[in-house]
Amino acid sequence: MNPASPFLETEDAPRVDVSFDGASLSLPDGANLAAALLAVGVEVFRHTPVSGAPRAPFCMMGACFDCLVEVDGVTRQACMMEVSEGLVLTRPQAGEAWE
Ligand code: FES
Repeated sequence: MNPASPFLETEDAPRVDVSFDGASLSLPDGANLAAALLAVGVEVFRHTPVSGAPRAPFCMMGACFDCLVEVDGVTRQACMMEVSEGLVLTRPQAGEAWE
């Protein structure tokens, strides 16, 4: 089978362990981080600093900044990253995210 979507190519990828807000997750190695988190049920990536409204990936191409997560202590766009072994992910604290 030749998958039409590159996301489907990761279905058989080896899984690696990452943590998100202290929860252990097994994600496909090399997958898009935002897509992989959505696929395992992470619905809220951050909260807005002003209203506290929940945000999740929207554009998946680096434009909206709704996918911000803290990766190993640095706030990054999850849609612009790949899954790799041992990532330590947390939701950015309000006011620390890029706005
Ligand atoms: S989903 Fe829009 S910047 Fe990542």
